[in-house]
Amino acid sequence: MENLVAEVTAAPVTGRDETQVPSYYSRKTADILHKYGPGPRVHFHVGLFDTGVAPNTTVAQSVLRRRLLESQEAALDHAALIWGVKDTPPSHLFDIGCGLGGGSIYWAQEYGCSVTAMTVTAKHVPVMADLVEQAGVEDLVTPVLGDIHDLCEERRYDAAVAIESSGYMDRERLFRVVAKALRPGSWFGIQEHFLCRPEWTSFIDGYYKTRLGTLAEYIVAAEAAGFQLEQDEDITDRVAEFWVQSMAWTTAELDRAERTGVASPIDEKRLVESALAHGKLFRAWRDHAVETRMLLFRLEG
Ligand SMILES: C[S@@+](CC[C@H](N)C(=O)[O-])C[C@H]1O[C@@H](n2cnc3c(N)ncnc32)[C@H](O)[C@@H]1O
Repeated sequence: MENLVAEVTAAPVTGRDETQVPSYYSRKTADILHKYGPGPRVHFHVGLFDTGVAPNTTVAQSVLRRRLLESQEAALDHAALIWGVKDTPPSHLFDIGCGLGGGSIYWAQEYGCSVTAMTVTAKHVPVMADLVEQAGVEDLVTPVLGDIHDLCEERRYDAAVAIESSGYMDRERLFRVVAKALRPGSWFGIQEHFLCRPEWTSFIDGYYKTRLGTLAEYIVAAEAAGFQLEQDEDITDRVAEFWVQSMAWTTAELDRAERTGVASPIDEKRLVESALAHGKLFRAWRDHAVETRMLLFRLEG
């Protein structure tokens, strides 16, 4: 496993506590595995549901978990389609802020991409390496521990993706380093949440430790680095249901612990906080106070 793990030296990004995100995710790794595992494709992002009749939530917890996973993979299937991965899979893909590598394994297994998967959370890396091995794609997926802000690579990748990770990053630096790391003419696909009503900022950033921005801010940062926005799809209405299904899973977890007397591995306080927060998140998404979008940026050249 060790030979899979490359290290990228990190220099501090000024003005922020750079340990906050890795320590938040280190604490969360086991919880993510419990809720979204066992894998090998474990994702930590919202998923796509069909609009129209919402699926029943008074079902077994295992059904809810399967639905969450299917919706997350439906989002990746959709990204693959609109970003052209289906027709022209990039041979070397950079998965920025890869979490436990569910997406990286997906791109490797479904499209044969060779993937460099970067996370700033040290605890993710051995877990991801294990999942990559279980999936049998050690030859294609390389987990890397590093902070994207400090990336120095040049013209290495054919494409890059950031699935709900750019919201943790300084966008000016992100686009600048990614522009250098991509070959000219390559694309950078982003799935992210964007603030539309600023009064929601402190709740969401406080809950997820993000620094969400606006679409306009992304476009300015991207253009300054030499990217043009080529696609912008608003998927807010299709992902809003994810909060309801996720909340139902959390409630079922609390019920199960109470019924059986066997405590959840996830802290009870966090489960209660999560169930409450999900109600708010659903309302914010339903009202488009926050929007989730899939963006495709193309690098000049
Ligand atoms: C919401 S998770 C998304 C995980 C993954 N993309 C997925 O879809 O399952 C955010 C991820 O971004 C990573 N991340 C946050 N800031 C980062 C940074 N500065 N450099 C690299 N990764 C970062 C975190 O470690 C975490 O893995």
